[in-house]
Parts: sequence; C-alpha cells; structure tokens
Amino acid sequence: MASSTVSFIIIIITTVLLPSLSSQLSDLFPSNNPPPFLGKHSHPIKQPNHHQQYRYETRYFSQPLDHFSFLDLPRFRQRYLINTEHWVGPSRSGPIFLYCGNEGDIEWFAVNTGFVWDIAPRFGAMILFPEHRYYGDSMPFGSKEEAYRNATTLSYLTAEQALADFAVLITDLKKNLSAEGCPVVLFGGSYGGMLAAWMRLKYPHVAVGALASSAPILQFEDIVPPETFYNIVSNSFKRESSSCFDTIKNSWNALRSEGQKEDGLKQLSKTFHLCRELTSVQGLSDWLDSAYSYLAMVNYPYPSNFLMPLPGHPIREVCKRIDGSPAGSSILERIFNGVSVYYNYTGEVDCFQLDDDPHGMDGWNWQACTEMVMPMSSDQNTSMFPAYDWDYSAFREGCQRDFQVTPRPRWITTEFGGHDIEHVLKSFGSNIIFSNGLLDPWSGGSVLKNISETIIALITKEGAHHIDLRASLTEDPDWLVEQRATEIKLIQGWIYNYSKKMKATFEI
Ligand SMILES: *[C@@H]1O[C@H](CO)[C@@H](O)[C@H](O)[C@H]1NC(C)=O
Ligand SMILES: *[C@@H]1O[C@H](CO)[C@@H](O)[C@H](O)[C@H]1NC(C)=O
Ligand SMILES: *[C@@H]1O[C@H](CO)[C@@H](O)[C@H](O)[C@H]1NC(C)=O
Ligand SMILES: *[C@@H]1O[C@H](CO)[C@@H](O)[C@H](O)[C@H]1NC(C)=O
Ligand SMILES: *[C@@H]1O[C@H](CO)[C@@H](O)[C@H](O)[C@H]1NC(C)=O
Ligand SMILES: *[C@@H]1O[C@H](CO)[C@@H](O)[C@H](O)[C@H]1NC(C)=O
Repeated sequence: MASSTVSFIIIIITTVLLPSLSSQLSDLFPSNNPPPFLGKHSHPIKQPNHHQQYRYETRYFSQPLDHFSFLDLPRFRQRYLINTEHWVGPSRSGPIFLYCGNEGDIEWFAVNTGFVWDIAPRFGAMILFPEHRYYGDSMPFGSKEEAYRNATTLSYLTAEQALADFAVLITDLKKNLSAEGCPVVLFGGSYGGMLAAWMRLKYPHVAVGALASSAPILQFEDIVPPETFYNIVSNSFKRESSSCFDTIKNSWNALRSEGQKEDGLKQLSKTFHLCRELTSVQGLSDWLDSAYSYLAMVNYPYPSNFLMPLPGHPIREVCKRIDGSPAGSSILERIFNGVSVYYNYTGEVDCFQLDDDPHGMDGWNWQACTEMVMPMSSDQNTSMFPAYDWDYSAFREGCQRDFQVTPRPRWITTEFGGHDIEHVLKSFGSNIIFSNGLLDPWSGGSVLKNISETIIALITKEGAHHIDLRASLTEDPDWLVEQRATEIKLIQGWIYNYSKKMKATFEI
C-alpha cells in the first residue's frame, strides 16, 4: 500500500476542523485534546504470524447496555478471547488471568501482551481478554456507525460501564464453569492498567489483585502538574542530544513562518512528502507532535512493532537523523528526516497522510471529552513543544462542538479517587502493582511510590510504555527480566494468600 497508513485499518478519515482558538493564536500549540494513549494505532496490525503465535477461542457474551439503570434498553454483544489450554481447572483452583481490554481492538492487545501468555502455563491459568465496549467488535446498537451516532448513543461509553462488563462477564463465566472458587488476577496496560487498578479497588471480591502497567491514574485535575507529560517526552529527546531537542524546539517557528509565506503550505507539503496539500500548518504540527509523543511511549531498547515498525532506541535514531542531516539542511528538512524514522522506517511509504484527526468521532476522544479530562500544558522553558497553557474553557468548547457534550473534569477523582492516594490506599487497598518505565511520558501521572506492603510501585529507569507486558525476548535487558520476576513473585503471593484463606474457610 502506498501511504503511511500501510499496516493499519483506518476507520475514520474526516476533515480536520480547526479549533477556533488556533486561528486566533499566532503560535502553534499542542493538540487541544490530550495526547491519546494509542490513538488510531489501537487497531490490529495485519500480520498473520502474530495471530498464529497465540491460540484462543473468540466468544461473545450478551451484556446490558446500561448496568446502572433498569431501563429496557437493547443489549449488545461483548467479544472476549479465551484460552484454557493451561488451566488446571476448578478442582485445583486454577487462576484466571483477565486482561482489562482498553481503547482498541482486543486482538491487538492480546497479541501485544505476551507477558500474560508467557506466564500462564506456570500458573496453570486460564487467559481471558474481554474487549472494551465501543471498540473492536463490541459495538452497541449493532454497528460502529450507530454506536457513534451522537451523544445519546455514546453515553454508555464510560469506564464504569466497562468495569461492570468485566465483572458481570467473569462472574457469569465462573458460574458456567463451576469455577467460583478460582482467583482472578487482573492485568492491564495504559488505560487498561487504569481499569485494572480501579477494578481491584471497586470489585475486590471479584479479583485478588491487579498488575497495572503504565497506568496514569493521577493524570487528572491538579494532582500532577499539567506540564508533566510533555516534559518527559522532551527529556527523552534531550537525553539523546541537546541539539536534537533544540532543533525540534526551533522547528515550530520555522513551520509557522514557512506556512505564512505565499505558497508556504504547498512548499511544506512538498518538504514533508504529503499525499495531499496542507490546508493549515496546525495539521502538520499535530502530526509531528503525535510522532514525538508516541516515540517517547515506545522508546524500547529493541526493535518493535507495537505502534509502528521501529528500530531499538527509536528516539536515538530520530536524533541521529536530525543531527546528522547533510550540512546546510534546513531545520524543517532535518525534522522531516527525523520523523521519517517513525512514519517510514520500513521505507515502504510513498507519501504521508495526515489522518491523525484529533476531532474525529473516535472512542478515546469521546472518553477524553466526558470523564477522562487530563490537563496538558507545555512549559515554555522545559518543553520542546510550542508553549501552551491548559485552557479548560477552550477544551470544553471543543467537546461541545465535536460531541455536543460537556466534560465532567472532577468525576474520575470523585468516582475512583486520586487525591492523597498514598494515605487513602494505604489504609484500605491491597494487591496492586503499579509498574512504570520512567521514559514513558505517562509515567508522570502514575503511582511511583510504594504505598503499602501490597500496593507496590515497580520502576525501571530505562523502561517505556508498559514494556513489562510485552512478550519476553532473548534481547531483554536485565532490568526488565528482574522487573517481570518481581511481578511474578508478587502475583504468586496474592494467589498463595488467597488459597490459604480459602483453605482456612473450608476447615472451619
Ligand atoms: C441520537 O440518535 C438517535 C438514533 O438515531 C436518536 O433517537 C436520538 O434522538 C439522537 N440524539 C440526539 C441528541 O441527537
Ligand atoms: C454462560 O452460559 C450461558 C448459557 O449457555 C451463555 O448464554 C453465556 O454466554 C455463558 N457466559 C459466558 C460468559 O460465556
Ligand atoms: C520512505 O522511505 C523510502 C526509502 O528511504 C523513500 O524512498 C521514500 O521516499 C520515503 N517515503 C516518504 C513519504 O518520504
Ligand atoms: C523561563 O526561563 C526564564 C529565564 O530563565 C525565566 O525568566 C522564566 O520565568 C521562565 N519561565 C517559566 C514559565 O518557567
Ligand atoms: C517497592 O517495594 C518493592 C519490594 O516489595 C521493591 O522491589 C521496589 O523497588 C519498591 N519500589 C519503590 C519505588 O521503591
Ligand atoms: C500475604 O498475607 C500476609 C498476611 O496478611 C501479608 O503480610 C503478606 O504481605 C501477603 N503477601 C502478599 C504477597 O500479598
């Protein structure tokens, strides 16, 4: 195929509506919406060999559209993937590993969560990957088109409904299998990690513990500074090369002044090998912004194909190209060479499509416009992105325009907590691992301190976005091998303690 969309199924390509704000500002600014976790990438990569790697059965389960009302609403089919090959069954209290599906096609998460598949045999565990409602094949109202029609039909797309889906599904499945006594262990990465942690807190009777990897449950309100995310991205570039950081920082002005020239947009479209001529500089700026943010997330020490096919240490490679461009290259030519590592590593892309539409009817954008309001700023001194102060009113207006919905920025902390989390969880929560790699920009909004004997933070300095959940490889660095070993030990402890309690109950 002949575009940057080469290996992805693109579901929506809509015209980018410029935020009204951007035309008033002279400067570019980071996308009005927070950086999506996975964005358009969370669709399966078409690589048949991946699907052969893990075997599972695909099943569907009928769910109420609304778990929290008794209205007579249509039900929908939730997809879930199941593997019982290694499960030792109810008689031996075989554990059930449940990955909390996040904002994308569940097969894609199954393929990219090798850790669960790697460790299931030694635990004699069943593997379950339920899909998150409104994603993949789990569409209410029969189709994506109907489900995403308007604010009324989208209203059932919430984290609370998704957690209730998981709880209802696992309870029903256990009943069907007479496996009520089997311990459930939750796994999740990114938003899925947030769901895993929240599920352990909300449904402690359903699951014995949760491994929440790269789960930014504190990226709300003012719990962490709004500059955190972009500062971490920027530092990931700075640590590779300060001139690379400077070139990127200076490129926004270069972009803007180029765009203001007569024929500037045409020239920019040529410099960046775009398939279609730009209608605004903002579109290109968002495209670059996405590349840098995603690069920081998947800055893995070995070649990977999570969001895009990439070399190991991809930011190092980007900076090598930016710094190593032929003498006399302009800033924008350097930038083009750099981001080509992200968008065209395979060298198979003929031209780039700027289809990263931040205002499309995309599930995460709806979630960001309702519950998942994550304030983001870009500090003028420490960030390599254009300076930007979080502007809630502008954000809200964007949501009202795009979805006819008004966000509830305080709801998540009301529902799940977040403020003063150390003290709160110390006295009532247990059995959660918050794992984070500090290179991951989402790590700044996550739990990075041990809270109690059983609420543990595992940090790796060189890790990126939920790298621990990926399949083990021979080239895994020692710190990653160690991190996974600690996780396995902790999970064993949860199961051991659970079965001890079960035995004690039976003996009474
Ligand atoms: C959304 O679409 C549904 C189905 O077409 C319709 O019944 C409902 O009134 C619409 N709601 C809004 C707010 O437009
Ligand atoms: C449990 O069994 C019933 C009856 O066969 C079935 O309808 C339901 O989907 C099963 N539950 C799960 C979670 O598969
Ligand atoms: C992608 O890389 C190949 C090989 O370097 C190059 O020929 C092609 O022009 C690049 N595509 C774009 C859109 O820049
Ligand atoms: C940025 O640095 C300048 C010069 O060091 C300082 O005066 C200014 O207050 C800083 N701005 C911010 C937002 O920290
Ligand atoms: C938390 O405690 C565990 C041991 O249970 C330790 O391995 C880990 O390094 C600690 N985490 C932090 C952030 O101190
Ligand atoms: C098991 O339970 C004991 C007693 O409640 C506790 O001290 C210990 O930390 C638990 N172990 C794990 C791994 O959760």
